[in-house]
Amino acid sequence: MLGWLVTAPLAVLRWLISPIPLTVIAVLAAWAYYSISKRLDFWKSRGVPGPKPRLPWGTEYGSPFSAVTEFESWLYNEHGGKKFCGFLELQQPVLFVGDLDLIRAITIKDFEHFPNQRDHLGTDFWKETLILLKGAEWKETRAVMSPTFSASKLKAMHQLTLDNAQNLTKYLQKQMKEEGQVEIKDAFGRFTMDNIAACAFGVDCNSFVDPNSQFAKNAAKFTNFPPIMMLRFVAETFLPYSIARWFPDYGLKVGAFFADVVMKTIAHREKNPSSTRDFLQLLMDTKDKDGKRILSDSSIVAQSSLFLVAGYDTTSMLLTFAGFCLALNQEIQERVQQEIDEALERHGGLTYEAIQDMPYLDRVISETLRLYPPATRMERVCAKEYTLPDTDIQIPAGTLVYMPVFAMHRDPELYPDPLQFDPDRFLPEEKEKRHPCAYIPFGNGPRNCIAMRFALFEAKVALVSVLRELTLKPAPETPPHPMPLDPDAFLTTPKDRKVPLLAVPRQAAAQ
Ligand code: HEM
Ligand SMILES: *[C@@H]1O[C@H](CO)[C@@H](O)[C@H](O)[C@H]1NC(C)=O
Repeated sequence: MLGWLVTAPLAVLRWLISPIPLTVIAVLAAWAYYSISKRLDFWKSRGVPGPKPRLPWGTEYGSPFSAVTEFESWLYNEHGGKKFCGFLELQQPVLFVGDLDLIRAITIKDFEHFPNQRDHLGTDFWKETLILLKGAEWKETRAVMSPTFSASKLKAMHQLTLDNAQNLTKYLQKQMKEEGQVEIKDAFGRFTMDNIAACAFGVDCNSFVDPNSQFAKNAAKFTNFPPIMMLRFVAETFLPYSIARWFPDYGLKVGAFFADVVMKTIAHREKNPSSTRDFLQLLMDTKDKDGKRILSDSSIVAQSSLFLVAGYDTTSMLLTFAGFCLALNQEIQERVQQEIDEALERHGGLTYEAIQDMPYLDRVISETLRLYPPATRMERVCAKEYTLPDTDIQIPAGTLVYMPVFAMHRDPELYPDPLQFDPDRFLPEEKEKRHPCAYIPFGNGPRNCIAMRFALFEAKVALVSVLRELTLKPAPETPPHPMPLDPDAFLTTPKDRKVPLLAVPRQAAAQ
């Protein structure tokens, strides 16, 4: 019996070194070598500049193992990416486009060639989400979901957001008393977690009391993936999806928690109709002409979870950088506070309308998003062969396109003295002087951030609640301007993932 264990491998070995298999192996090796070197020639053969391709990352250094912002700035500033250049992300050809007219063409005029985001995100849990849907299915779902983010719908979420923002302010006051300083990245993180839990899941998460609730713990698992999820992510990049899908899907497990939360709320509300007009209710209320709900249960679960992942870190990062910039620029902060006082007086309190009536605060937020855009780049996948305008360069279907946001927002030719924090760059007359694509923190065209208004609204409510009572100041360990960034983070993130500040009562600050 055991003899078989020895003889079988020997037989295989003997067979392998016989002439016919040897020829087959040699042909396969030659083919692999040929296709890899042809792949390495992908951009050169099309006359597109770019860094010299190297195995295994595709470039000298690059994603997924180098600092995202540094890599993109390197392509933008040193390899022609300010116009366009090409590189390989592992084996995947990527066109990197910094030219503003070309960005506009790709995202708007020639949208039909570039209608989608990249495919897989390391788990099948996301496959029904808006960001991964494609073509007609994306278009229909987007149309059904868009009204959810209209001004009147946001107005209905004002009180909920304001309550959360008031808890934030109280929390900062308490932290200051107990610790002598506040950790604003953590505090703003708790606020956005509570607010998205309330608006997208109908859940009272109360992170200010317990930052490690089941909800918050599971949410963190989506973005701080364990190595096992990284494995599948890498597999998806290297291997055809039909093979990669057999790698362990950790996201499905985390997703099950949120599916349970959403399904319980839906069941509860179907029995006890609620007057709450949060995102979950609005998604439940999408009805076709026969009065039937358009979005399936699993689609609602997917969209709510996407809101959590797309909306939590991005908005808390915006608030963190805004707090940091205001603390380091006291005159600008005073001007914001003065505007808040006047608007609240005009509108008789912190109303939705008062928030909309603060143009200087709006410019401060725009300037924050210019200098520290949470999403460092925008991406599209080419779905239909495309000829770059005014060239004969052809981009085949399947090519990934990167459009820099961070690198472009700090280009001195677009923004003189780019590291200077100056909200007046966003005065209407200044904005008019720039290309419409020179400022794209929320992306561009029909596939831009569907929740831009909601993100700006909740950030403003939070800042107004805090700044009407408190003044932010640098603490001894606050990093100097410009904020050093975390090289390993996917979003623009402060180094050490901490930003300590002082939050002093306004009267005291004035002395
Ligand atoms: C400051 C905060 C935010 C920033 C900077 C931001 C940025 C972005 C960017 C750059 C994109 C891709 C756009 C493109 O490729 O053209 C995007 C897409 C998206 N964002 Fe946001 N986002 C923010 C907040 C939010 C929030 C709060 C939500 C949900 C409540 C959200 C939901 C989405 C969704 C669903 C998409 C995909 C849209 C589609 O593919 O049709 N985002 N966001
Ligand atoms: C604010 O905090 C209180 C007390 O911790 C809590 O009961 C309440 O639910 C919080 N408000 C919101 C909107 O989360």
